[in-house]
Amino acid sequence: MAITFICPDRDTTSWIQALKELDPTLEIRVWPKDHPRAEIELALTWNHPKGVLQEYPSLGCICSMGAGIDHLLTDPSLPDPDLPGNPAIVRLVDQKLAWDMSEYLLLAVLHHFRQFNFYQAQKKENNWQPLLPLGKKEMVIGIMGLGQLGKAAAKRLQKAGFYVCGWRDSPKEIDTIPTFHGRDQLDVFLSRAHILICLLPLTRQTRQILNQDTFSKLPHGAYLINVGRGDHLKEADLLTALDQGLLSGACLDVFQTEPLPGDHPFWQHPKIVITPHISSQTNPTSVAPQILSNLDRLRTGKSLLNQINIKKEY
Ligand code: GLV
Repeated sequence: MAITFICPDRDTTSWIQALKELDPTLEIRVWPKDHPRAEIELALTWNHPKGVLQEYPSLGCICSMGAGIDHLLTDPSLPDPDLPGNPAIVRLVDQKLAWDMSEYLLLAVLHHFRQFNFYQAQKKENNWQPLLPLGKKEMVIGIMGLGQLGKAAAKRLQKAGFYVCGWRDSPKEIDTIPTFHGRDQLDVFLSRAHILICLLPLTRQTRQILNQDTFSKLPHGAYLINVGRGDHLKEADLLTALDQGLLSGACLDVFQTEPLPGDHPFWQHPKIVITPHISSQTNPTSVAPQILSNLDRLRTGKSLLNQINIKKEY
């Protein structure tokens, strides 16, 4: 029996190395190279071609190669994991992923808070003009999405001295983080957030949640950081909100089309910071034990780690 990677646009070398280091006997295939489909027990996937999972009759587990599973859900033929006999679907939950994300967010927040965008623009004009410093207590950070990544980021930003609150779909006590939930509490949450961070999973409910209506409910001149998915944001609405001054700027790591097309207006926009989907990248060495543990659980009939809730879409 064997496992396979099905991730046409990703290099698997370091993943294979990390898995082989822990289990040199593990049989690993890489789609689409020819291999008997019936020998595959577990598939590691990222943007797999739709329908391809149907070719694997013995599949017991489909594992996303990241924290998100939206790339799996775009396949209409994805087997429903709640139906008996179908493979389980799991994602990777990893402390390093959470730590790296919180580090990126701390940097993005401080970049805005210490007004680096302004000073970078000033430098181009040889201009020396100090601004008044902003106050941390007046700068509330609102985090949409308080899963493992959101919680870790909230705590790190709190430690850095910011007031942080969060918003999620359903009620849940999260120690030290004032938390709003559901559509009913969205407006009051937004009205407090001088910096809005999107770390939501992409679902039918959250698609295009970052839109003109949302921006109009934030304090005037708020700052947006999107590290969720490109489809959380209505891109044209961001440009309008920046032009109108509803937002003072944005830091974007994810985009509707990736790589971001060369002629996209975001590239040249002076108030938009762009990074190429690197806020937190899955580290194969860090997640290899989790993958092997799930393979072992699969082989011994135990329930798998980090199974997704298909109804909730995350
Ligand atoms: C990256 O975007 C992930 O889902 O891990």
